[in-house]
Amino acid sequence: TLTKEFIKGMPKAELHLHLEGTLEPDLKLVLAEKNQIDIGQTTIAEIEKSYQFDSLPSFLNIYYPAMNVLQVEEDFYQLAMAYLTKVKAHNVRYAELFFDPQAHTSRGISFETVINGYYRAVTDSHTLGIETALIMCFLRDMSAESAAETFEQALPHRDKILGIGLDSDEHGNPPGKFKAVFKRAKEAGFHITMHCDIDQENSIGNIREALLDIQVERLDHGTNIVEDRELVEYVKEQGIGLTCCPVSNGFVVDDMKGKEILDLLREGVKVTVNSDDPAYFQSYISDDIFALSENYDMTPADVVLLAENSFAISWLPEAKKSSYL
Ligand code: ADE
Ligand code: ZN
Repeated sequence: TLTKEFIKGMPKAELHLHLEGTLEPDLKLVLAEKNQIDIGQTTIAEIEKSYQFDSLPSFLNIYYPAMNVLQVEEDFYQLAMAYLTKVKAHNVRYAELFFDPQAHTSRGISFETVINGYYRAVTDSHTLGIETALIMCFLRDMSAESAAETFEQALPHRDKILGIGLDSDEHGNPPGKFKAVFKRAKEAGFHITMHCDIDQENSIGNIREALLDIQVERLDHGTNIVEDRELVEYVKEQGIGLTCCPVSNGFVVDDMKGKEILDLLREGVKVTVNSDDPAYFQSYISDDIFALSENYDMTPADVVLLAENSFAISWLPEAKKSSYL
């Protein structure tokens, strides 16, 4: 009885969305042509056919090279505006947007090009009736020194960045590797979060480290927390939210983790559903919620709770938050 229209119509916040993961094949082709970049494919069908991934590394191996089509400030702006225009139809009212500066600075694009393009979209998002903010992520498969350098590059742009996150390949790259830079980020007043991906080698150990040592304010994914009752109680007490991405999970671990998501939601953990990399997983936020409802029993009350949680665990100022709730 849950319709896509009902899910789409629900006012919501999106909190786990990689801007680079919103690069649709059509824009990829347009930018490749404009910037004279050979991406190996010349049609949308060819690009879509190349999207064969069954694990996080196999996804990342397609994801990073594609970013080469992003060259100038306007490209980053256009990418973000295209995403925001799409999710207006999903009644996204507020979005906290991840971006990966090192994926661009490592190929010779300046930090300023990236931040200025994305931030112009943050400013202009108001014209679409959407409020937005940026979360800068470090690539955890790069060094702690590179993360520290990136943090330094971000400091002159302090006012443009709301939070700091951690993404890319978790294997062999636990939260503790970045303890120093996250401590600095926290002291500088940034909100902090980290990816704790699904079914990693030491998922629960990494979740414990992120929560207790780094003291993150949210977990991105993080459903392996079900393995430790004490940690589940801890996030409930602290109001720490999980930003889950069922369709993405379906691609990278062949399991949406819907049971875990719904069990945690219904026992009072502040769980949300998000799209992660919608252009690659062909699923925008309402599609993710709908996919969950098609594969697991879900009620309208579950959808309402997901939407409420999305504002509740956002990093909006409290007064603004309550205007949405
Ligand atoms: N970067 C983009 N999507 C990601 C994901 N699902 N996990 C880790 N890093 C990512
Ligand atoms: Zn993610």
